[in-house]
Amino acid sequence: MERLLPDDDATSALGAELAATLAPGDLVILEGDLGAGKTALARAIIRTLANDPALDVPSPTFALVQPYDTPKGPVLHADLYRLVDPREVDELGLLDNPNAIVLVEWAERSPEIVAAASVVITLAIPPGGMGRLVSVTRR
Ligand SMILES: Nc1ncnc2c1ncn2[C@@H]1O[C@H](COP(=O)(O)OP(=O)(O)OP(=O)(O)O)[C@@H](O)[C@H]1O
Ligand SMILES: [Mg+2]
Repeated sequence: MERLLPDDDATSALGAELAATLAPGDLVILEGDLGAGKTALARAIIRTLANDPALDVPSPTFALVQPYDTPKGPVLHADLYRLVDPREVDELGLLDNPNAIVLVEWAERSPEIVAAASVVITLAIPPGGMGRLVSVTRR
């Protein structure tokens, strides 16, 4: 699936839509440059999974991984941008719970995570800078 998301509301709406397609055990990687909208989309997905439109979903850039308890089970939101060594990823436990829904930004830092992905989301800023282009592929 490919789509143009004209504004922030469209990103939120897609997040809600995608959340409904996710099941425990899904590992979603979000690709795209700095500012492409990975956290914005993950936030919308997590708020829908948590059934809480006002839930605080900070960027996990510094914590590396942020856990959430939701009615759909545990959700982990990770950002591997600051990962120095791919081996560090094991300590984050992203693959430890087969019933978790895991969302990962900058998964390129860990070939192991990329290989384990069940859903690949790619976000890009189109030429001209209006909105975002998104593609979603289920493996
Ligand atoms: N469809 C859209 N059209 C225009 N702007 C958008 C759209 N969706 C999100 N944005 C904006 O794009 C920015 C995305 O920031 P965000 O932190 O989500 O990027 P990121 O990909 O997570 O970056 P990083 O690699 O630093 O983690 C936000 O300012 C958000 O408001
Ligand atoms: Mg981010």
